[in-house]
Amino acid sequence: MEHPKLEQVKTLNKIYETLLNKIDDVGVHVINDVGKTIIYNEKMMEIESLSREDVINKDFLDVFMFEDGQGSTLLEALHEEKEFRNQKQTYFNNKGKEIKTINHTFPIYDNGRVIGAIEIAKDVTKLEQLIRHNMQRRGNTRFTFDSIIGNSPAIQEVIENTKRATRTPSSVLIVGETGTGKELFAQSIHNGSERSSAPFISQNCAAIPDTLIEGLLFGTKKGAFTGATERPGLFEEAEGGTLLLDEINSLSPMLQAKLLRAIQEKSIRRIGDTVERKINVRILSTMNEDPIEAIANNRLRKDLYYRLSVVSLFIPALRERKDDIFLLADHFISKYNHLFHMEVKGLSAEVIHLFQSYDWPGNVRELEHVIEGAMNLIVDEEIIEPIHLPYHFRNKSQSPHLNPVVSVHGSSTEDKAQTLRNLKDYLHEAEEFYIKKALHRHDYHITNTAKELGLSRQTLQYRMKRLNIGTK
Ligand SMILES: Nc1ncnc2c1ncn2[C@@H]1O[C@H](COP(=O)(O)OP(=O)(O)OP(=O)(O)O)[C@@H](O)[C@H]1O
Ligand SMILES: [Mg+2]
Repeated sequence: MEHPKLEQVKTLNKIYETLLNKIDDVGVHVINDVGKTIIYNEKMMEIESLSREDVINKDFLDVFMFEDGQGSTLLEALHEEKEFRNQKQTYFNNKGKEIKTINHTFPIYDNGRVIGAIEIAKDVTKLEQLIRHNMQRRGNTRFTFDSIIGNSPAIQEVIENTKRATRTPSSVLIVGETGTGKELFAQSIHNGSERSSAPFISQNCAAIPDTLIEGLLFGTKKGAFTGATERPGLFEEAEGGTLLLDEINSLSPMLQAKLLRAIQEKSIRRIGDTVERKINVRILSTMNEDPIEAIANNRLRKDLYYRLSVVSLFIPALRERKDDIFLLADHFISKYNHLFHMEVKGLSAEVIHLFQSYDWPGNVRELEHVIEGAMNLIVDEEIIEPIHLPYHFRNKSQSPHLNPVVSVHGSSTEDKAQTLRNLKDYLHEAEEFYIKKALHRHDYHITNTAKELGLSRQTLQYRMKRLNIGTK
């Protein structure tokens, strides 16, 4: 029989191995004190297009190549005891394939002695492809004022003000809860303006790490940092046109200051460059929280706010213009009738009532999703009934309200009459409900909501994305 201690070590090793391989959003690479690879997880294999056999027990520099003058963060961590955070790196594997990562890298100490180094890597090759893909998509702005549906005085007033803003190149700040149509308004401004034939470029400031967004906005000079290529930023790409900066309040204070400078000087400098480049770009920005509150909480620089909000548009939440719900519902029913080859005629009286009494935290986007979801459930009925709506509507509550999870014993008759749902679906719905509730409490402020739910910002955003809450 094996020594119990040895068995424990083996079990622990198995746990570490599984853990490392199941962490599937970052690569993990560990080298020992002589620079040989001892840990290499599956995600790292994917990022670097290598197999474990290619690297394990091999000298790091036998496997990877770096451009002249560019060292490896992992070896620098080992030999020079340096630590890196969010360090961008470009290198090549032994098959000549270029790899781009953003790394956290640090030495491992044992009793004050360096015994190895760890690299935790995010794959930027994919992220950059995604960004490029986004930029290509950016070319075609679809929306004009004709796309904005709504007859209520509240929305009509904003539409009027927005139309006036098409005549000038002034900055416009668009404030509204998630799903209220900020992007729609921004595109309508661009398409209604003299700049309509020039580019419209939109960038979400919350979706991309700070380290990348700076280069993305202002461009980079070759060699400005490890792996930097000569590339224009979005300011240059939007030349003559419009740049929409989405969720401006999530930019770091450093970048807000840089942005302010660019707007004031009407010129930018690529990272690492000394050349000033004149820009002629109209800046539109959006926020989903009250700017005054954002300033008070240091999420928005006051001076930047004044620059961005030469014109401010406040888009009302759907619950503040309930009459528009039915116009919008009809619009979405027509849209999906067309897309799904259906002939749905409208909403039942009960659904109308449910829609009226609901407060629509996800606004127009949520309404569209509810209609699309309902039309997926319809077989040959002509009218959308409560049965086609998400669970919280069918539950006939004023706002989304799940049966409390504690009622497992089915104490009420209603509980008994209901067929029990698949646990996964139920948990899914419970999660959606709870996240929406928390978001609503915090006016859709991600950081505060995440804090209350005990999640990281990223985890919350991931879950919102998965549940289709307030994402694009
Ligand atoms: N008044 C409206 N008329 C027609 N469609 C609308 C209207 N408002 C919003 N929509 C639709 O709702 C969806 C969400 O709109 P949009 O992306 O502009 O919202 P947003 O305010 O930018 O949201 P977020 O803050 O989450 O980015 C889009 O599909 C858009 O076409
Ligand atoms: Mg938006």
